[in-house]
Formats: sequence, C-alpha cells, structure tokens
Amino acid sequence: MTAAVQLLFCSLPSFIHTCMLFLVLYVQGILAEILDFVMGKGLIPADGEIWRVRRRAIVPALHQKYVAAMIGLFGQAADRLCQKLDAAASDGEDVEMESLFSRLTLDIIGKAVFNYDFDSLSNDTGIVEAVYTVLREAEDRSVAPIPVWEIPIWKDVSPRLRKVNAALKLINDTLDDLIAICKRMVDEEELQFHEEYMNEQDPSILHFLLASGDDVSSKQLRDDLMTMLIAGHETSAAVLTWTFYLLSKEPRVMSKLQEEVDSVLGDQYPTIEDMKKLKYTTRVINESLRLYPQPPVLIRRSLEDDVLGEYPIKRNEDIFISVWNLHRSPKLWDDADKFEPERWALDGPSPNETNQNFKYLPFGGGPRKCVGDLFASYETVVALAMLVRRFNFQIAVGAPPVEMTTGATIHTTQGLKMTVTHRIKPPIVPSLQMSTLEVDPSISLSDQDEVSQKGEVYQAQAQS
Ligand code: HEM
Repeated sequence: MTAAVQLLFCSLPSFIHTCMLFLVLYVQGILAEILDFVMGKGLIPADGEIWRVRRRAIVPALHQKYVAAMIGLFGQAADRLCQKLDAAASDGEDVEMESLFSRLTLDIIGKAVFNYDFDSLSNDTGIVEAVYTVLREAEDRSVAPIPVWEIPIWKDVSPRLRKVNAALKLINDTLDDLIAICKRMVDEEELQFHEEYMNEQDPSILHFLLASGDDVSSKQLRDDLMTMLIAGHETSAAVLTWTFYLLSKEPRVMSKLQEEVDSVLGDQYPTIEDMKKLKYTTRVINESLRLYPQPPVLIRRSLEDDVLGEYPIKRNEDIFISVWNLHRSPKLWDDADKFEPERWALDGPSPNETNQNFKYLPFGGGPRKCVGDLFASYETVVALAMLVRRFNFQIAVGAPPVEMTTGATIHTTQGLKMTVTHRIKPPIVPSLQMSTLEVDPSISLSDQDEVSQKGEVYQAQAQS
C-alpha cells in the first residue's frame, strides 16, 4: 500500500532548491508508487543506484546533433497538422486543438524515442488507443483519493483494469518488436560508437541506447522507453494547448509573434539556425510555461527528519512542490497572472531555474532536471511557429468555457475548441529543404549545452 503518511505543500524557492538538489535526502516517493504499473523502474520513478546508472545511459542519447536532427521531424509532423487544419479552415469547421496537440506530440515522441510512426493524427485505433488507455489510467491514479487498484479482489474483477492490462501488453509487445528490429539494424551496422553517435536512418534514442551496449532483453530498457514516451508526450501537448489559449486572449502578442515568424522563416521549414533567431517565439513558450507549468506540482519524499527553514520535515513525508504557486506568486513576479512574454528580455539568456534562482522551474532543477528540455523547447517553438505562420486562431463561438483540471499535466475540462482561418497572405507551402545536421555549438535555448556535463556533475554529487 502507499506509504505516505504526511503531506506538505511547499512553494518557497529556497526550500524547493534544497528538496531538488539533495538526492540523498529526497526521493520520488508517492510518484514512484503511482507510476509503477506503467513505468516500472523507468527514469522518472527510479531512485538510488538504478536512477544513477540509467540517467548516465540516457542523458548522452539526447546530444546536440540528435536534437538538431529532430527539428526536421518536428517540422514534418507540424506540417501534417497544418494539412488537417487547412481542410478544417476551408470547410469552416471548428477544431478541438487539445486533442490535436496530443496527437502531434505522440507522433513526434514515437519517432524520436523508438522510431515508431503512430500516425495518430490520422489513425485512432490499436496501439494509439492503447497508449491513451494507459495514459488516462496514469492520470486517474495520480488524482485518486484511494488506491483501489491495490485491492486484490479489484485486480481480478475490474473490467477497467483488464482493459489497462491488455493495453499495456499491446504496448510492451510492440516495444519488444521495435527493440528486436533496432537490434538487427545495430548488428548489421559497421558500428563506431562515439559521443555524438547517430544513425542517420534511425536517429532514435533506442538506437543510441542499443548501439551503446544497452541490454536488449531487459525490462529496464522497456521501462525507460515507456517513461520517455509518457514524459515527452502529454507535457509538450499541454504546453501547446495553453500557449494557444493564452494567445487567443492577447491579439497583440499573436501579431508580434506572427511578424517574427514571417520574417525569420519565410516559407521554409524551420532549421537549427532559426531556433536562435525565433527569440520572441521562444519567449512566448517561456511565458506559457510560467503560467501553465507542466506538471504543475512536483513531488519529493524525505528519507530522514530534516528542517527546511523554520519548518520541521518528518521522515517519509511527501512534499508537494507547487510550481503553479511559485510561478504565480505576487511576491516573486510583477503582474504575476499576466501573460507577458516581454518580461523576458529578448537579448538576455533563456530563463531557467538557475538564472532565476529557483523561482522559475519549467523543467525542474538539480540532478533530476528534465532530460528532454532542449528537445521540448525546440519542438514547441517549431510547432507554434509553423501553425501561426499559416493560420489565425480564435476561441470558437459557442465553445465551452476553457477551464482547468489537473492530472499529471494541466488539461482543459472540455477541450480547446477553436476557429481556424487562413491568414490573409498568399498560402505558404513549405519547401522540402530540410534542416541540416550541422550543429552550431553556440546555439542553445536553455542551458542544455551543460547537459552532458550536468549529468556527470550531478551524478558525482549524488555519489558523494
Ligand atoms: C514541454 C515539455 C516538457 C516539460 C514541461 C517537462 C518537464 C519536466 C519536469 C518539470 C521534470 C522534473 C520532474 C521532477 O523533478 O520530479 C521532468 C523530468 C523528466 N523529463 Fe521532462 N518535460 C518535457 C518534455 C520531456 C521530453 C520531450 C522528454 C524525453 C524525450 C522528457 C523526459 C523526462 C525525463 C526522463 C525526466 C526524469 C529525469 C530524472 O528524474 O532524472 N521530458 N520533465
């Protein structure tokens, strides 16, 4: 049964800093228990030695050359969404953007993590349905007052649990097949593994891990792939959903954004060089992540009695770090609830937890900081830029009010129904010139260029 006996809510930067920095004292706790059925000992729920070893294996897979190669994938996927919206705009049909963003990011993460094309923007059955069944279960468990799934009789008779188990089996079988296919590719390669190793035909994280010597048959590998699928899917979808909601309320910001996108991209697919130039677009995403952090709450459990400032912490206490409150605290921010991308200087560094002294945590912080931060920043910037270049978006007339509900990420209660219209300018069809794989090492949206060192530095701290 769940071991949590005490809960503490916390939104003071200095305390958060402590909880997130000290792995020896603070672990994932209740989160690991809730996610066990789907992520097992994957990187998010894992603690201790397993976490340390797996973090060291996975962080290098998201190297700069890989992330740069992903920009082509983001552009192609966003273009498929544009084609869908083209049809809706021409037919005068309103669209529900939240589910479209969920499908866009599922298609992206499937290709990026294990080279699988869910094609969920046009396909709703089989494996796509299985992924959504499992995701919904994870969301429901994360907000359930009683862990009914742990009651033995319930396990046997619940039709819902049987459906979840069938979905999990389908996903695991698919993962096993993908691992086997990838292993054959790796075996046939004349492999010269090095730091920025990448197979051009299959640049996926799975390919990197197998080439680096990961054990094909291990449940750990599957747990990590599943963890990245979930971690990198709903988060990015939620960021896009709330960004479009915020933009619909601020036409001034939308016009400024479209102006930048037009001048930087023209009618081309975004490239790695454009990421540096799309400054305002990046600030829009930074600001959206402040107002709607994904997830809105982080969790740690204390392993020992401790004191945070004047507050005593008991052993085994679950601490809920409210990033939502932190990001909207009037003590920390001017006009805290206002959507104002201009609060982040265009020529300043990209805001992150370090340069904002832990009052801004878009990707967490410390040793357990998100491994996909640069990936996700580029993904959301590319999708945002490609969509607003071609269309205007407004909340549909008669749409249900946009209200929030939270699971692991912040969802709308009834979707984000929008009217999409073509912008009044000649239609832009992206040319097929794709991004190059050349990487300018000076380019960075966040502090990702520290990532590989960061993994090592923090691991060293965790060991000591
Ligand atoms: C906009 C999108 C994303 C947001 C907002 C986000 C946010 C976060 C946050 C806040 C954490 C820290 C959790 C904690 O401290 O408990 C985290 C961890 C993590 N994220 Fe992300 N993430 C995003 C995208 C991704 C992507 C694309 C991937 C994979 C490619 C990914 C993989 C992970 C993993 C594996 C961890 C756990 C790291 C560890 O515990 O060592 N995330 N993410």
